[in-house]
Amino acid sequence: MPRSFIAGIGMYVPENIVTNNDLTKYMDTSDEWIQERTGIKERRYAKRTGETTTTMGIEAAKIAIERAGITPQDIDFIVFATLSPDYYFPGCGVLLQREMKMKEIGALDIRNQCSGFVYALSVADQFIRSGTYKNILVVGSEKHSFGLDFSTRGRNISVIFGDGAGAVVLQPTEKEGHGILSTHLHSDGESAEMLAMFNPGTHANHWMEQPLASFNDAEIADMFMSHKMIDNAENFPVMDGPAVFKKAIVKFPEVIKEALAANNLTTADLNLLVPHQANLRIAQFVQQKLGLRDDQVYNNIQKFGNTTAASIPIALCEAWEQGKVKEGDLVCLAAFGSGFTWGSVLVRW
Ligand code: ACO
Repeated sequence: MPRSFIAGIGMYVPENIVTNNDLTKYMDTSDEWIQERTGIKERRYAKRTGETTTTMGIEAAKIAIERAGITPQDIDFIVFATLSPDYYFPGCGVLLQREMKMKEIGALDIRNQCSGFVYALSVADQFIRSGTYKNILVVGSEKHSFGLDFSTRGRNISVIFGDGAGAVVLQPTEKEGHGILSTHLHSDGESAEMLAMFNPGTHANHWMEQPLASFNDAEIADMFMSHKMIDNAENFPVMDGPAVFKKAIVKFPEVIKEALAANNLTTADLNLLVPHQANLRIAQFVQQKLGLRDDQVYNNIQKFGNTTAASIPIALCEAWEQGKVKEGDLVCLAAFGSGFTWGSVLVRW
């Protein structure tokens, strides 16, 4: 059975740099607070018009495809991970397929937020291993800057997130011990509401005692997105930051150890850990818990903020471009996020 390997990788971030000081124009915050709690110095925001989650994904995909030495017409399946799609439906995968003039191939959108790219890689890996496809494009892309609350009310979330995209091309390899060694995926819906955006949605206040959306339930329509929801700012993400922190620092090390143990490896064998760039404090905690040296962990949240499904491919691409990922290296990608969902991918480069 073949394994899949990363044949090409690319990233794209918008030109527009937004510093912590820039955010103080809109909300009561400070560079000191943001850096101390999250490690973030700046992030990128896409252009207001002309730049979308899909177009950023396309820019990253073009580079990944070129580096794989193929053309868009050679791609035989698309997996697109995002929580900030251009349209509520259809997904970004079909927009990318159309724009890149690809064949009438399958296009799957993945909705696993911060774990989206790890889930996407895992799905693509199964298709390669089974021999179904030979060139799979896996994209993670986010345009968060359109859906954040830039008033002081939303500051605990808005300062964290940024825009950008990353992509890889997966291909089969018969080379012994090379490529994706394993993937491990998990979820625990107990805390689904701890990090979420409820509206627009079809929940009709079903899941929680405390209403999550304001609407007049005598009406037969206007429950998906009502004027009241907008007036009450119920159309923004919510996060219980400390709860996310507590769970993340347990599940990140757990799923990394699970990946290593499944392959009879230990943290000493690891050349590079590329964690989802949730928060520098989380990454540092995980590094300390696993006893990893600084050169064994790659972080770039300082420059790009948390780009959710795009953060792992952006970080992996940067690390690769800087020569920090070389042939034969053992690389672990690990994510944790909304759901909660978490997972890991272990790769022999
Ligand atoms: N600037 C200034 N003050 C702020 C800001 C801000 N941007 N945000 C919140 N505060 C204030 C709050 O209003 C509060 O003030 P109060 O004590 O007067 O009420 C105080 O800071 C503490 O607020 P908390 O929300 O409790 O902030 P906390 O200390 O927990 O820090 C943070 C928030 C950084 C998000 C922290 O909870 C954390 O690190 N959580 C981990 C989760 C995370 O990083 N999520 C990222 C995305 S999720 C993912 O990718 C998995």
